[in-house]
Amino acid sequence: MIRNPEDIKVLVTRHFPGTGIDLLRKEGFNVTLRDVDEPMTYEELTGMAKKHNALLCTVTEKIDKSFLNECDHLEVISQFAVGYDNIDINEATRLGIPVGFTPDVLSEATADVAFGLMIAASRKMFYLHNTISKGEWSYFIPRAHLGTGLRNQTLGIFGLGRIGLEMARLCKGAYNMDIIYHNRTPDKDAENSLGAKFVTFDGLLRQSDVLSVHCSLTEETKGIFDKAAFMKMKPSAIFINTARGQVHNEADLINALENKDIWGAGLDVTDPEPMKPGNPLLGMENVAVLPHIGSAEMETRNEMSVIAAKNIIEFYRGNKLPNIVNPEVY
Ligand code: DGY
Repeated sequence: MIRNPEDIKVLVTRHFPGTGIDLLRKEGFNVTLRDVDEPMTYEELTGMAKKHNALLCTVTEKIDKSFLNECDHLEVISQFAVGYDNIDINEATRLGIPVGFTPDVLSEATADVAFGLMIAASRKMFYLHNTISKGEWSYFIPRAHLGTGLRNQTLGIFGLGRIGLEMARLCKGAYNMDIIYHNRTPDKDAENSLGAKFVTFDGLLRQSDVLSVHCSLTEETKGIFDKAAFMKMKPSAIFINTARGQVHNEADLINALENKDIWGAGLDVTDPEPMKPGNPLLGMENVAVLPHIGSAEMETRNEMSVIAAKNIIEFYRGNKLPNIVNPEVY
């Protein structure tokens, strides 16, 4: 330990589940735990961060250029999430602030949600569940509520990273799906282990029966699933997004579903979040929506809190963050 841990003030912006916070306390840090679920306003966050050395935060906290310049005294930022599009990484790097994140541990949990949404959309599950609450379950109707089968279909993955790979494995194992994918660079391991085939973005749109989004949100991917993209997809296709809502254009998605350019959708992420209760997607038969719960599994959230805490602990032990977004900071 380079400094007396009691002199190190760590701001934990929310009541994160799991044992991570205990680890920070055991290490002797002076921890401020905001013991609530609601996010702070930008001004509150800036005001509190100014009084701390380290920040343990998550996706709803906007750590932009102006925040970072006001709080350039911060020594380390540890994000409780795998995605970090809320943080201006270039600016953090320029200011010499290492940023940690929590990859890998949530891949399976998030892929489970993508897989579940695919089945829910294909069999109209959420919509039909709601008809029961409305007293609309009358009798067995042989030609009603028909979904679409998934066996031997083609799964297209946009962004074959850790989560995409897990979704591909689930779909291959359960439904013997053929896997195609589009990435910036081909992934030879995935090609060998899953028989996955690299295709162009255009090819992915045109050939996928189910198209599942697993990329990060960047300037390149923002709004990439727009009207033109949906128009190229099969009218029988199901669109799944468990990555970030801004990767699809929500108005264009609604139109594509209304015009039957695509068949259905499963979303764990929306734009904006939270989705408003009157959103047309919520009333559509072939659509399933969840409130951003990809990693919301007890074991996963515990591991995320441990990793987020260890990023801070190792930093103050004088080591490189075990899970770092911007290694170039060193
Ligand atoms: C992430 O980790 O990026 C999720 O979206 C939040 O759990």
